[in-house]
Amino acid sequence: MARVVVAGGAGFLGSHLCERLVARGDEVVCLDDLSTGSERNVAHLLGTAAFSLVVADVSRAAPVEGHVDAVCNLASPASPPAYLARPLETLAVGSEGTRRLLELAQRCGARFVLASTSEVYGDPDVHPQTERYRGNVDPVGPRSVYDEAKRFAEALTMAAHRASGVDVGIARIFNTYGPRLAPGDGRVVSNFCVQAITGAPITIYGDGSQTRSLCFVDDLVDGLVALLDSAVTGPVNIGNPDERTVAELAATVLGLTGSRSVIEHRALPADDPRRRCPDISLAREVLGWEPKVSLDDGLSRTVSWFTTLLSGGSTGGGSARGGSTGGGSGGGGG
Ligand SMILES: NC(=O)c1ccc[n+]([C@@H]2O[C@H](COP(=O)([O-])OP(=O)(O)OC[C@H]3O[C@@H](n4cnc5c(N)ncnc54)[C@H](O)[C@@H]3O)[C@@H](O)[C@H]2O)c1
Repeated sequence: MARVVVAGGAGFLGSHLCERLVARGDEVVCLDDLSTGSERNVAHLLGTAAFSLVVADVSRAAPVEGHVDAVCNLASPASPPAYLARPLETLAVGSEGTRRLLELAQRCGARFVLASTSEVYGDPDVHPQTERYRGNVDPVGPRSVYDEAKRFAEALTMAAHRASGVDVGIARIFNTYGPRLAPGDGRVVSNFCVQAITGAPITIYGDGSQTRSLCFVDDLVDGLVALLDSAVTGPVNIGNPDERTVAELAATVLGLTGSRSVIEHRALPADDPRRRCPDISLAREVLGWEPKVSLDDGLSRTVSWFTTLLSGGSTGGGSARGGSTGGGSGGGGG
């Protein structure tokens, strides 16, 4: 049994990670400011002795007493509407937040795992992306608040490793979906599910030929836990290389829901990546990890969850924050 700090643990990915760690017998301290996450996501864990929630902004403080064995840093807004609404907070959590959590790991001699992102590759001109690719990021574009925060967080993590010997692992996470995605946060899967279930028009930015490679959340958590349990520094891509067009995703969700929603096309947002697909050779080699859940299976489980959520039923583990479904095909968020 280990004592693990999960910063951002009340969010979509973080809540699944907390659940997995508690289930295997770890003690989890979740640090979260509830800015884009919600207590409801971890409500089912709150009664258990092995789980505690500390509401804190890690850009200002990481208030954890006593020894910890590992620190996982997932704290950051992740979808484009969320980080574009909080540009300075996003830069602060990537920089100051990461620094404070690295200090906590250093003080305790704990392993530190950073949830970085495929967005460090920007709009890639190499395909699929390997960890050696250095990216094509506009440092002053609208998405730079997120992309550069994560690039800086990676640099800080490696600096702490080289200068102070902190045991670190960096995961470059590609688009992930599943239960507890926030219905109104503008990601492609949540938008399509909510629109299809409610009969609203399915909004696709551009002609829908842009691609996304989507990883089901259970697979993603398997990859993160494999990295946490290893001594691998990385960075390591964690994602699903099954690349699909946005138009194909819309058609699959329409088929699974039996919806009669019509498709509406809108203009592509600035900096929207045309293609995104991980090369996961390194994860296969050093972590023995690869995704197992097919897109049809993962989408069908996600559609069921959204159907229950939108009909007001119990989703067993709570929902993420609600909101409007004003977004479109989802700008490659995360
Ligand atoms: N979901 C994806 O597809 C994806 C892809 C790549 C990377 N990631 C990364 O994984 C992590 C989790 O993403 P998610 O999709 O679960 O997003 P999310 O918004 O659901 O979760 C992020 C959590 O961090 C918390 N948080 C934000 N700022 C904080 C702060 N200053 N102090 C404390 N807590 C703070 C939020 O309240 C939220 O609970 C993020 O770091 C994100 O960049 C996610």
